[in-house]
Amino acid sequence: MEDSSTSTTFIPILEQMSLADATARLVDLPDGTRAWLVSDYDEVRAVLTDPRFSADDQLPGYPRMLPAPPAPGAMSFLRMDAPRHGAVRRVLTPSFTMRRIERMRPGIREATRRLIEGMREAGPPADLIARLALPLPSLVICQLLGVPYEDHEVFQENSRLMLSIDSTPEQATAALMALGDYIRTLALKRRTDPADDLLSTAVQQQEAADMTDEEVVAMARLLLLAGHETTANQLGLSVLTLFEHPDQLRALREDPSLVKSAVEELLRYHSIVRTALARVAVADVPLPGGQTVRAGEGVVLGVKRANRDERFLTSPGDLDIRREVRGHVAFGYGMHQCIGQTLARLELQIALTELLRAFPDLRPACPPQDIRVRHTAVVLGLESLPVAW
Ligand code: HEM
Repeated sequence: MEDSSTSTTFIPILEQMSLADATARLVDLPDGTRAWLVSDYDEVRAVLTDPRFSADDQLPGYPRMLPAPPAPGAMSFLRMDAPRHGAVRRVLTPSFTMRRIERMRPGIREATRRLIEGMREAGPPADLIARLALPLPSLVICQLLGVPYEDHEVFQENSRLMLSIDSTPEQATAALMALGDYIRTLALKRRTDPADDLLSTAVQQQEAADMTDEEVVAMARLLLLAGHETTANQLGLSVLTLFEHPDQLRALREDPSLVKSAVEELLRYHSIVRTALARVAVADVPLPGGQTVRAGEGVVLGVKRANRDERFLTSPGDLDIRREVRGHVAFGYGMHQCIGQTLARLELQIALTELLRAFPDLRPACPPQDIRVRHTAVVLGLESLPVAW
């Protein structure tokens, strides 16, 4: 998988960023404004833990990566600062503990096996993205939230439109509204007829957390978006990357107990959240490297570069599924660190294990140059990944 693009838009800049030089610098954003690109490992963590950097995308200077102006509250607590952020996030934390997520293991395994059987029955070549990488996280988040999976086309298409740099502002706004309408109807039902799902929990705790109806809708929309786009992309890229590193693929096949460290290393190696991690300074803040971000200036975090920082780990450009990588920032850092990370890890571990077990000879079904990378999305991923066995 190579990026032959010579465009000077922001995403290729992030992709081609020199690993040797991580000095914070001002870069051009797609809308013509400028923001700091911070990609040194220590500086990324410093920004993500400093309350003088806000996650509120309604503040002037917040880096705009998508065509549609951000709708107020659209991204729920992801775009809130303390103390409100904590109050809203706490509604969800009991549902994402290790113990609660571990209870989902048999269900996730069963769903994975069913999808893999579907793939086998359809026969090779099969598109791994359409057959497994996208439906698996979608099924899981739907079950967790209490959203009927039969409606997946509604939210998959609308999430894609919301998160794509190729959408027109009108398309992105319409998608946001459509997703909101869909969830609002479901939330209304849960109010009178609660079930054992996250949407019911949110509705029940709405008053205690002092949340408006619209905040409940935004929370569910965030989970729906974050719960399937990210994991789906990471799974597709992980399989492709293993194809590109046959020695690593062989090692994982021979010793499936390596799957935990393999998933962690693949998360670090790709760091798929490329342009979505951003902040705006609410005061002048000197960075550890010496540059000063002025109040009102935006910051985009170069997570991939940070995760390949020599000072963070040795041989950062190598993929080594045996290394015990700790402290990478692929799930962010600080108070907004991904609430779904335990779930994402579990899904990725199960999917890789089951896939390699079911198809001992799994291989790409097209030349690498034919595999299309989704460069236009704020989260890196693949359009499709044809495989054979
Ligand atoms: C490979 C998969 C995933 C990756 C790489 C990923 C990455 C991230 C990152 C980098 C952040 C921090 C954003 C920021 O600080 O601005 C984040 C936050 C978040 N993620 Fe994930 N995520 C993944 C899977 C999931 C899943 C499966 C869910 C839900 C089930 C989820 C739900 C969330 C939510 C709700 C937040 C906001 C947390 C907050 O603001 O307190 N993510 N994720």
